[in-house]
Amino acid sequence: MPGELACIETSCRARYAITDVLYNCPSCGGLLEAVYDKPAESAEDLKCLWRERRMSNDPLDQSGVWRYREFIPFLGDLSHVVTLREGCTPLLPGKLAAEYGGLDAVVFKHQGFNPTGSFKDNGMTCGASQAVALGMSRVACVSTGNTSASMAAYASSAGLQPVIFIPYGNISFGKLAQALEYGAKTIQVEANFDQILALVRTLAERLGIYLLNSINPFRIEGQKTIMAEMLDQRDWHVPDWVVLPGGNLGNISAFGKGLRELKELGLIDRLPRLAVVQAAGSAPFYDLMHSSDRSRLNAIGHPETLATAIKIGDPVSWPKALHEIEASQGVVEKVTEQEIADAKAVIGRCGIGCEPASAATLAGIRKLTAAGIMRPDADVVAVLTGNVLKDPGYIHEYHTGVLRDPQGTPIQSNFGNPPTVLPNDSERIAAFLSS
Ligand code: F0G
Repeated sequence: MPGELACIETSCRARYAITDVLYNCPSCGGLLEAVYDKPAESAEDLKCLWRERRMSNDPLDQSGVWRYREFIPFLGDLSHVVTLREGCTPLLPGKLAAEYGGLDAVVFKHQGFNPTGSFKDNGMTCGASQAVALGMSRVACVSTGNTSASMAAYASSAGLQPVIFIPYGNISFGKLAQALEYGAKTIQVEANFDQILALVRTLAERLGIYLLNSINPFRIEGQKTIMAEMLDQRDWHVPDWVVLPGGNLGNISAFGKGLRELKELGLIDRLPRLAVVQAAGSAPFYDLMHSSDRSRLNAIGHPETLATAIKIGDPVSWPKALHEIEASQGVVEKVTEQEIADAKAVIGRCGIGCEPASAATLAGIRKLTAAGIMRPDADVVAVLTGNVLKDPGYIHEYHTGVLRDPQGTPIQSNFGNPPTVLPNDSERIAAFLSS
């Protein structure tokens, strides 16, 4: 049974066919989610089946998303799957990062090990597969860079035309370069992410293009498997906290849904607390969680942060995210540009590395432990959402001491590691290395 689409609004809960091309509920405008009957297998059978598949050479089993296909059963025909062997990302301990964050230990679930270097691949394999199943020929997204890189790769590999919209001058070259290389028709619009999303939604409907932003419920299904894989790798031992950066809030929605469903299926017996960290200049969800009225999010008209991946002022998935934070007794934190930059350098010193948005996790952990909200002996998994090479310009500027925040204030290179220029002279180089 491939399931149905359901409106998330408790006052509505209207149901639609899984093959309807919908992003919002036609009845009340609410967000939609995929819902399914319980799988036939028991929790123990699923655990065994998913573990055994790691030994298989079948492309579906080698994917860290489709290996968990009983957990995301929206496709009637698995021959529609588009996979680049996404997922299968490691859990990496970071000793220095733990010390910096005020924890005894921390483990990073590094989604930057994905085929296009970000967690978006977990969702995109599902979104692109649904596009194929629906017989679409063109797919589109607006993006701060990672969604577009991922969509371009998956669409091209499936023979679909990728059309991407990006805020002109506001995405890193690494991400733009990926979109061009993977063959996307790339439109740079002189507007911010939120303004372009509104534009693309009307254009997609008018031109019959399938929209693959995280408002697409199948993207969320794929991103759920990040939590399934993390727990599988920990022999289903539930951490106390899962920490992640928040932008458009699709990922927190996916993690929360995934964890709740794993609990309902009996694969875990409790939920970890979810902690979302936003950049202080782009923190509308933080503001919502700290306001007395949570019935409506006040968008930020001009979001600012050097962590361009999360430079979003009007996150579409906030109602889902709010539900997941409340259901998991979670928290939302915000961190400054300086805090992100230093945390990122510390993650780098662990030999791990990540892009700026991902480092908001460690910066947030440091604040949460200092505030006594997170205990030093807590079992914490932080999700690094993007690869270190996504934004090399930022890294070079930080280590050479010229990085400035969006207001032009210099960022201190507290963990700076600038390169040294020396002449081609062995004596001088030897003297430098012995000093
Ligand atoms: N981290 C990175 C590296 C991202 O690229 C994004 C989002 C996020 C965190 C936030 O995730 O939106 O689910 O809360 N990037 C989107 C994009 C918006 O277009 O690539 P979220």
